[in-house]
Amino acid sequence: MKFFLDTASLKDISWATQSGLIDGITTNPSLLSKQAGDLDPRDVLKEICSLVEGPVSAEVIAVDADAMVKEGQELAKIAENIVVKIPMLEEGMIAVRRLASAGIRTNVTLCFSSVQCLIAAKAGASYVSPFIGRIDDVGQEGMDVIRETRAIYDNYAIATEILAASIRHPRHVVEAAMIGADVATLPPDVLKKLMLHPLTDRGLEQFLSDWRTLGAPAKGGARV
Ligand code: G3P
Repeated sequence: MKFFLDTASLKDISWATQSGLIDGITTNPSLLSKQAGDLDPRDVLKEICSLVEGPVSAEVIAVDADAMVKEGQELAKIAENIVVKIPMLEEGMIAVRRLASAGIRTNVTLCFSSVQCLIAAKAGASYVSPFIGRIDDVGQEGMDVIRETRAIYDNYAIATEILAASIRHPRHVVEAAMIGADVATLPPDVLKKLMLHPLTDRGLEQFLSDWRTLGAPAKGGARV
């Protein structure tokens, strides 16, 4: 399973790239506006693209097809690894088709049903982003959308990648991985939580405290 980091924070991105755990980045207008402040968001995207080799999703703001295509083409000029994020809208699907024909990869965002994911794939999306956590928030089972979409894509050998988004906790990651989502995009705090287990902490504490009961030479390392 690929992990993308769902953030525009340069600090979090450079931490994650050092661990080699991250295969790409997803941003959205909310995340970019938080990071950009007074800066031009395009400069922030450029910086992100230079830190990460994999795909970096950048979202259009326009909602009509012509403007989305224009904006998508501009975003794609920022760097080769830009993937244009397009909202699941009738006009959006026209934009996806046009951008795909021009060789520009797209990620269809704000998907909340498996049939929306099927539509996005038929329009030519490279990635589709079902928002698991937000579906859970309204009392439905977000993971069902991943499960149904996986089955549909497998039935028809659809190559669009399922990018599980709006991930809120490690259990979402486990379930999406068991179903076979291609990618999970993780907020930095969720990525960090994936490494935690209380038994790891307790075990390490025990090892270190046992080691401290040894004589002074052991603490320094070399015994002669
Ligand atoms: O980037 C889209 C997405 O992952 C949003 O997550 O937590 O705002 O629902 P959230």
